[in-house]
Amino acid sequence: MIELKSGLLTRLNQAVRHANDNQILRFSREISGIEGLVRLTVGEPDFTTPEHIKNAAINSIQADDSHYGQPRGSVQFRQNVARYLSDKYQLAYTSDDVMATVGVTEAIYATLKTLLNPGDSVIIPMPTFPFYAATTEMIGGKVIPVDMSATDFKLTPALLQQTLAAHPEAKALIIATPGNPTGVVYQKQELEALASVLEQTDLIVISDEIYSEIVYTAFTSMGTVLPNQTIVFNGVSKSHAMTGYRLGVIAGPKILIDEIDKVHQLLVTTPTNAAVAAATEAFSSAGYNDSLPMRAAYLERLSVMLATFDALKLEYVEPDGAFYLWFKVPTNLPRDDNVAAKMLAEQAKVGVIPGSYFGTAGNGWLRASFATSLPQIKLAMNRLTAYLTRNKRGEA
Ligand SMILES: Cc1ncc(COP(=O)(O)O)c(C=O)c1O
Repeated sequence: MIELKSGLLTRLNQAVRHANDNQILRFSREISGIEGLVRLTVGEPDFTTPEHIKNAAINSIQADDSHYGQPRGSVQFRQNVARYLSDKYQLAYTSDDVMATVGVTEAIYATLKTLLNPGDSVIIPMPTFPFYAATTEMIGGKVIPVDMSATDFKLTPALLQQTLAAHPEAKALIIATPGNPTGVVYQKQELEALASVLEQTDLIVISDEIYSEIVYTAFTSMGTVLPNQTIVFNGVSKSHAMTGYRLGVIAGPKILIDEIDKVHQLLVTTPTNAAVAAATEAFSSAGYNDSLPMRAAYLERLSVMLATFDALKLEYVEPDGAFYLWFKVPTNLPRDDNVAAKMLAEQAKVGVIPGSYFGTAGNGWLRASFATSLPQIKLAMNRLTAYLTRNKRGEA
């Protein structure tokens, strides 16, 4: 092992030095050694990528598609994305208004880097996907957290107005619909009510819609109600069970896409050709219904979980989308979600994620993923029932 010259570490970018590592991954790793643990921790589909999509990737490799591709994705890719977003969600983007990224993860970084000067602030309603705040801080921006725990985990026009009054300097707002970790989905009227506040401002709205295909009610894209100041994120990770392909999409006014593309090219030049080819197929009409069987499976699993949660009288938010059940730490466990999650992992052998990892607004809550098989979920529910019943009697 090579040692770094002493003192050099202090010379690094301090935002990087002081950044937390990914708490979800760290916690998952920490508990992964527990024998027989059922992991309701995972944030990715347990399904395999559909065959026709895999074949598109294989064909791309076989055809020696091995040179640098177009930074924003091929013309065919962008045409398919635009048609997909139009057919599915009535979005009006053309192929010039969309670009490929290396997952929504890269989209978050490239977009925030494009929008923010050092010291600029971003409104982030929480609990939410932790990368928004972590990325904002890493690039020298400031996070304005908004606690949504008293408003059914949704941003309301009143909360937004209150935040804007206190922070008129904010540059951007990041929402996620469906949300991670809560599974909440903004209905059309709710987005319209937010839009009527937002259009009075110069805020740029980032709407992360990566779970748009995994919705159990109706889905409306923020891009349809506030197109002129919204940037939409989507991708194939969740809809087509392709997390490992690393392919996301940014859609927004072309003039913004041109700017974001500058950051994107310095970060990655271009996504991997085979991944773009696979996503081109996923976004073609042949891939429109790929998520249907997955969605049906998620719903079945959810109903099993809800039956147990109801029987145990646990407090939860019934998700309208995504594959997470957001629930309050059971009353007979310590209220600290970190301690409670550890106890559940070690003593009940059920792995869930502490809610505080999604912002302090998640304190006292836990996230259970149902992106794992039905037998595993049934096993987890039996264990939870046995453990919490035993615990209630003071035997745990
Ligand atoms: C809300 C949200 N956005 C983005 C991502 C990351 O997506 P990608 O795999 O496209 O980078 C996740 C992953 O869990 C997520 O939950």
